[in-house]
This record gives sequence, C-alpha cells and structure tokens, in this order.
Amino acid sequence: MKEKVRILLSEQEVDQRIEEIAKQISADYAGKSVHLICVLKGAVFFMCELAKRITVPVTMDFMSVSSYGNDTKSSGVVRIVKDLDEPLDGKNVLIVEDIIDSGRTLSYLIHILEERSPASLRLCTLLDKPERRVSQVVVDYTCFNIPDEFVVGYGLDYAQKYRNLPFIGVVEFSD
Ligand code: IMP
Ligand code: MG
Repeated sequence: MKEKVRILLSEQEVDQRIEEIAKQISADYAGKSVHLICVLKGAVFFMCELAKRITVPVTMDFMSVSSYGNDTKSSGVVRIVKDLDEPLDGKNVLIVEDIIDSGRTLSYLIHILEERSPASLRLCTLLDKPERRVSQVVVDYTCFNIPDEFVVGYGLDYAQKYRNLPFIGVVEFSD
C-alpha cells in the first residue's frame, strides 16, 4: 500500500490564520498574561507558532495524555502520561490542541484542569471536525473547521509519521 499526502491547507494559509488567532487572543487577554498548555505531541508546532505571535506575556507548560480505547475510537477516559510542571491556581489558562474530533479527550481534560482552580480556562484548537462530535466542548478559538478526513502535518501524525510536514494534508492510500 502506497501513501500519498494531498495538501488541504498550505503552510501560508495556516501561518496566516495563526497570526489572526494570535491577534484575537492578544486583544482578549489585554492587560493580563496567558498560560498556554500544549497537549503533546500534536500541538507542539501550533503552540510554538501561536506563542511567537501573542503580544501579551506568555508562560507555557506541557501535558501528555493518552486515551484508553482502541486506535480509531477514543473512550473519553484519559490517562495523564506527563502531567504539568506548574500548578494552575489563579492563572488564565489556554489549552492548545491540534485537533478536536469526538471531543472526548478534551471534555475529560477540561474537567481535570478545572479542578485545579485556574482564574479562567479556555480552549484553542488548530483544527476541528465538528461533524464528528460526541462530547460537546466549548471551543473558544478555532483556526480551521475541516471535513471528516484523516489529516497529518503541522504536528499531526499517522502512525507517528508526517508530524514535520509544514502544511496540513490528507493521507491517501493506493496499491
Ligand atoms: P477525540 O477525543 O476524538 O476528540 O480525539 C482527538 C485526538 O485524536 C486528537 O488530539 C488527535 O491526537 C487524534 N486525531 C483525531 N483526528 C485526527 C486526524 O485527522 N489526524 C491525526 N490525529 C487525529
Ligand atoms: Mg492531540
């Protein structure tokens, strides 16, 4: 089976949109600082590009979660593989995610983080597949809504491959 990646969103389109979202975040958090939480590994590229363009003071922390369940369906019960280094009390927390699919992972994560008493808790995602939603989550900042296709690049993987592609593409299979 051969794999090919068809470009869905070019590097320029993605970077331009991140710039817009960063402006919006900078305006919304004016006079405050924002504590970005990167959900590893997929959100790494997005978080770096976003953080560079935010003009209010930024702090960052990283978290890695794994969903119990099979490969294609997340169960919604999340195991923390790597927890945050810092407490969240009193911070304006912005979760930075690569993609929201069923929403199960994020609803669980939001629930866990809310219990750590942040001053505010918002969610920012690079991609959203709203058609696939099972657990409702409030997304405060979305760069792109995309159709129900499996995408890679800009941090997103297929079997750990393609994370380093500078664009977002759809994996296509042929013989
Ligand atoms: P959810 O709990 O179904 O919302 O799972 C979201 C997680 O599934 C994301 O953080 C990704 O790790 C993974 N995921 C969902 N759709 C895709 C995709 O199209 N490409 C790569 N990973 C995906
Ligand atoms: Mg993810």
